[in-house]
Amino acid sequence: MNHLIYFGPPGAGKGTQSFEIAKRLSCGRESAGDLLRWHIKKNTAIGQEVKEMLDRGRLAPAELVVRIMVERIKEFEAEGRGWVLDGFPRTIEQAELLAVEGWDHVVVSLSAPEDVLVERLSQRRVCSECGNNYHLEFSPPLTENLCDDCGAALMQRTDDAPEIIQERLEVYRREIEPLLEWFRTNGYEVLDVDASGPIDNVRESILALLKEI
Ligand code: AP5
Ligand code: MG
Repeated sequence: MNHLIYFGPPGAGKGTQSFEIAKRLSCGRESAGDLLRWHIKKNTAIGQEVKEMLDRGRLAPAELVVRIMVERIKEFEAEGRGWVLDGFPRTIEQAELLAVEGWDHVVVSLSAPEDVLVERLSQRRVCSECGNNYHLEFSPPLTENLCDDCGAALMQRTDDAPEIIQERLEVYRREIEPLLEWFRTNGYEVLDVDASGPIDNVRESILALLKEI
């Protein structure tokens, strides 16, 4: 099954792990958060609409996110490729709107204790140009503060400020986590992955579970 949804709280490793798996499976990959940040960076109408929501750690409007993500999936489909999605769908409303399109998919659900999530997010650095993710201790860049791939400067995401991390965790518990049960009761396969260990171990756990399906 080359339609995968990476699900989990902020800092669980959705970006890190979905990037790896998409490369291995030669699938298209899209992250709803990355796509929205791209719009903000380019100052598009969509970017202007969602900037404050992302800065505050709140969810963007469901219909908007579904529209831009379905567009991306259709591009992957047209290329005859599988796809890996990071952070979409994120609410029951989004999942219901996506289901209308009729694609089946498997959910890779990553979880880790809250103190681990907070530590990862506060130590994360991202490339200001290509969006690559780093962790100061666990996956540092080869040259301090510079992206390994494009050489641009690394920065902290605005929503990785301590009070916004707390808000995002709260939004996750209140608005996002209930989707997991919805996936299970609506017949989607959910692979539960303990994502609290090192990056390579988490990747191996995911690969082992994918082999079984
Ligand atoms: P989004 O960008 O998706 O943010 P998030 O869900 O809060 O998740 P993160 O990107 O912070 O964490 P991650 O799980 O990707 O972890 P990562 O791999 O980076 O969304 C941002 C915002 O956009 C939302 O708040 C919302 O406003 C909006 N949005 C997005 N999707 C939406 C939707 N569907 N609907 C409405 N609004 C939406 O890892 C974190 C750090 O830890 C990195 O430094 C990494 O190197 C490190 N790390 C990863 N794994 C490990 C490990 N196993 N061990 C040690 N370090 C690790
Ligand atoms: Mg991410």
